[in-house]
Amino acid sequence: MINVADAVDHLLEAPVAPSFTRIGYDLRRRLDHWGEPTPTPLDERVMVVTGATSGLGAATACRLATAGATVVLVGRDAARTERAAEDVAARSDRAPVAPVIADLGELDAVRAAATELRDRFGRLDVLVHNAGALLADRRTTSAGNEATVATQVFGPFLLTSLLLPLLSSGPRPGRVLTMSSGGMYSAGLHVADLEMTAPTYRGTEQYARAKRAQVTLNELWAARVDRSAVVFHAVHPGWADTPGVAEALPTFRTILRPLLRTPDQGADTMVWLAADDGEPLATTGGFWLDRRRRAIHRLGSTRRSDTPARRQELWELVMARTGAEGPPDCGPTAAP
Ligand SMILES: NC(=O)c1ccc[n+]([C@@H]2O[C@H](COP(=O)([O-])OP(=O)(O)OC[C@H]3O[C@@H](n4cnc5c(N)ncnc54)[C@H](OP(=O)(O)O)[C@@H]3O)[C@@H](O)[C@H]2O)c1
Repeated sequence: MINVADAVDHLLEAPVAPSFTRIGYDLRRRLDHWGEPTPTPLDERVMVVTGATSGLGAATACRLATAGATVVLVGRDAARTERAAEDVAARSDRAPVAPVIADLGELDAVRAAATELRDRFGRLDVLVHNAGALLADRRTTSAGNEATVATQVFGPFLLTSLLLPLLSSGPRPGRVLTMSSGGMYSAGLHVADLEMTAPTYRGTEQYARAKRAQVTLNELWAARVDRSAVVFHAVHPGWADTPGVAEALPTFRTILRPLLRTPDQGADTMVWLAADDGEPLATTGGFWLDRRRRAIHRLGSTRRSDTPARRQELWELVMARTGAEGPPDCGPTAAP
């Protein structure tokens, strides 16, 4: 017998617009009978959220704190991040937790943030990599790295590797969760030209390459780390009305505004993956939209670019560029 929720989900998933807008969210929520994304109290659990000064990160942090988690915000601007931490505390009725200040694109700042997190907290249950932006003009970090890749690929990779021991020392598996994007469906797996050079730079293309790398690395981490220690998931939030979208895609926002998800709706699957002890803990390496695992390729051309050899090259590139010490190398892994 055909399951109605499966059939409707399949019909929604094929064309992008209904799936990514609030139409997809509303239909799936009803058909799959979603419960609360935070089904149990999260007291005692420590969760780190990057990019929580606005948009999806702020919504994620607030929801997790409301369920009882100790949520640590990591942000690059001290005043903005402290204000956000106070706002999360006020909205969740929790005591404020002093934030950690770090620009995720700066590797020294990431190392310092990891040390501070290890020193201040004896445990870490969840690490949410959410910080990110689509940059219209090419920017570089102090080390000369392209800023989109530095902030969304190199910095998170280094932070994960430094916090892995803390994440794996708790009473249940730790979780590393990455806010990727449906934009990555348009990009193949780029390694040698992961960072676009000035003459070829296009913000949307650079963003898509970085988001594709995030999803690939999510699978590579999952293949290399025992799932009883730490699980890894990447999320595609759909299209949500956030300050980031208003800044980077004003025309897109004006046209689609009535259909865009709210930040809470865009953050729902991230919150669920961070808080639910069922499927999110029993599986690893998933790419999720609306609480279901999704394919990481929709186009033959991007699928063909995603070879085991290129995956291995990506792993070696991020290890070299970040100076990270990853888990033991288990050799090349194929796209699932
Ligand atoms: N909204 C959507 O429809 C959508 C769709 C797909 C994917 N996403 C992804 O969702 C995530 C959140 O986006 P959003 O829409 O909520 O945008 P947003 O409102 O602009 O939030 C982005 C957050 O990232 C932080 N950030 C950016 N660069 C940083 C850096 N170098 N170091 C530290 N923090 C940094 C920002 O901090 P500041 O306050 O310092 O700027 C802000 O807190 C991003 O990864 C984005 O790519 C969003």
